[in-house]
This record gives sequence, structure tokens and C-alpha cells, in this order.
Amino acid sequence: MRNDRMVLRLATIGRNGQTAQAIAAACASNPAIHLAQADRAQADLRDPASLARFIDAAKPDAIINAGAYNLVDRAESEPDEAMRVNADGPFALARICNTLGIPFIHMSTDLVFGGDGDQAHTEDDAPNPLSVYGRSKLAGERAVAAANAFAITARVCWVYSEYADNFVSKMIGFARMQPRLKVVSDQVGPPTYAPDIARALVDLSLRMHGGARDLPRLMHLAAPWMTDRASMARDIMEESRRQGGPFAPVDPVPTSTFNAPARRPLNARLSGARATALLGLAWTSWDEGLGRSVAGVLSRPS
Ligand SMILES: NC(=O)c1ccc[n+]([C@@H]2O[C@H](COP(=O)([O-])OP(=O)(O)OC[C@H]3O[C@@H](n4cnc5c(N)ncnc54)[C@H](OP(=O)(O)O)[C@@H]3O)[C@@H](O)[C@H]2O)c1
Repeated sequence: MRNDRMVLRLATIGRNGQTAQAIAAACASNPAIHLAQADRAQADLRDPASLARFIDAAKPDAIINAGAYNLVDRAESEPDEAMRVNADGPFALARICNTLGIPFIHMSTDLVFGGDGDQAHTEDDAPNPLSVYGRSKLAGERAVAAANAFAITARVCWVYSEYADNFVSKMIGFARMQPRLKVVSDQVGPPTYAPDIARALVDLSLRMHGGARDLPRLMHLAAPWMTDRASMARDIMEESRRQGGPFAPVDPVPTSTFNAPARRPLNARLSGARATALLGLAWTSWDEGLGRSVAGVLSRPS
């Protein structure tokens, strides 16, 4: 017979996304965690009643919100939709968790920052989002904090992995179709491996469920190395070629080349130093994470 007091019943909003899949992998071999994940058909952040129904059925001890409206450029023309998913939904979730007295962890982004200077942004820096997406995520952070004094918001940045759609899968997909790739070289940030983020989120859930009340309410979960997008793309292409996948040379270009609808901060450096020290996080090296990510992407049915 299972002893339920020993088991953490963890629920995530989002099931098919990159972080949600990495959380599933992180929990798969842990018998002390029972994971329930909702895709947007089961728990839609635009529909508080569907969130309540899912939580009522799953009866979780802790919830991680890994769902978001992540279409950064499209958000410029869909600001209401971005607000509903990224601010109103998290507010509803935070309120439900507050009422139930269970831990709630919400995810946010470096795009709440304006990206001035060349220093890594810490949790103390003032946000100044440049885009509708960034404003919707900042509104979400604030809504969560207002609804639930114990909720934690974890900001992440430049997440990559073998799961779902991300910069690695995008570059490999482009290389299948284009002879050369134009990639921006003036945006700098910390490529962070999704399984590392997942492990940190699960660890936080366990600590909160275990009664920890002194954790900071805002944390940056980011790897300690920085690079630019064009250099990342070059590494991805080299690793793809090494593993027998597609290759295309990378031409570095400035961000202004693309005239994208949403402005992006050139300085996407996020300092994860505080959370790394506090939680004792270990970050998978870029080379190792890249190798696993490329292998995972190349093994997908095309
Ligand atoms: N990827 C990055 O580089 C990055 C950078 C900074 C911040 N973040 C933040 O990290 C978090 C996780 O991002 P990710 O990269 O893992 O996301 P992702 O791979 O883009 O997946 C998005 C997730 O959001 C869910 N979703 C979308 N609309 C929804 C709705 N209306 N209701 C409920 N769920 C909805 C999707 O549900 P389904 O499971 O049904 O598909 C999916 O699980 C987000 O808060 C994001 O803002 C990511």
C-alpha cells in the first residue's frame, strides 16, 4: 500500500511544452513524486473554471505553472490574449493555491527587463519590459505576488533542450531548408538547459511542501555562462554535423536586420547566482546539454 504522506502530489499547468516535458522526465524515476500534468485542453489559463476543475481532480500538494503565451512577436498584435494567459490565468492559479494553502511556483522571463548595459540582471533590478509579451509576463509576476504571499516566481532565460520547440530545434529545422542561416550576434544571454530548470523547480516544490517559508519570492534560474545567439547557432550546427544531422554556415547579423514586431533586449544576461548558491544548483555544461539536445532533436521523426 502506498503511504501518501511520503508522496508529493505535484501538478503542472502545461504538458507538451519544453519545461513541462523536462519536469515529467525529472519526476519519472522518483517514486516520491506523483505528477499530474494538464495540457491547455484540460486546464486553460484563460478559463479559471477549468483550472479549478483540474486542481479539484488532481488534488495536488503543489503546483508549477509551466504554461504561457510565448509568441513574443505575435503578442504585439494580441495584447489582450497575452494578458489573459500570462497575467489573469496565473492570478487565478495563485489565488486557488492560496485558498487551498498549497505551494505555487510561477515561471517568468528575462524579457521583463529592458536590457540596458552589459551586467547580468539580478532579482533586485527594476523591470522595464520592451514588448507586450514582457509587459504581460511582468503583470503576471505582480498578479501572482498580490494573490499569494507564499508563491515563488522563477524567471528563466534562453531555455534549450531535447524537448518541444526551442532554439536548438529551430536552428536544425532552418538548416534543413536554408543553405545559410542569418542569426543575431548582438543579443547576449545564458543558454540554460531545461532539465536543470526542471530539477530546480521540483526541488523548490519539495522544499515548499516540506514547510520552507523563508525562500525568496523571486528567483532567477539561469546558467552561469553567457553567449550570443549567432555563436549558439554555430555550435548547434557543428554539433548537428558531428552527429550526422543538417549543417548550414551561420552569418552573424545585428538584431535590426529582422525588423521583428517585438523589441528584444540586447542584454539578456540573467544572473542565477543567488538561487544557485541558495539551492545548491548544478548546471549542465553548454557542451553536454547541447550534445543531448541535438541528439534528441535529430532522433525525432521528421
Ligand atoms: N523557452 C524559453 O527560452 C523561455 C525564456 C524565458 C521564459 N520562459 C518562460 O518559461 C515558462 C515555460 O516556457 P516553455 O519554454 O517551457 O514553454 P513552451 O515550450 O513554449 O510551452 C508552452 C506551454 O504553455 C502551455 N499553454 C499555452 N497556452 C496555454 C493556455 N491558454 N492555457 C494553459 N496552458 C497553455 C502549452 O500547453 P500544452 O501543454 O497544451 O501545449 C505549453 O505547455 C513560460 O512561463 C515562459 O514564459 C521560457
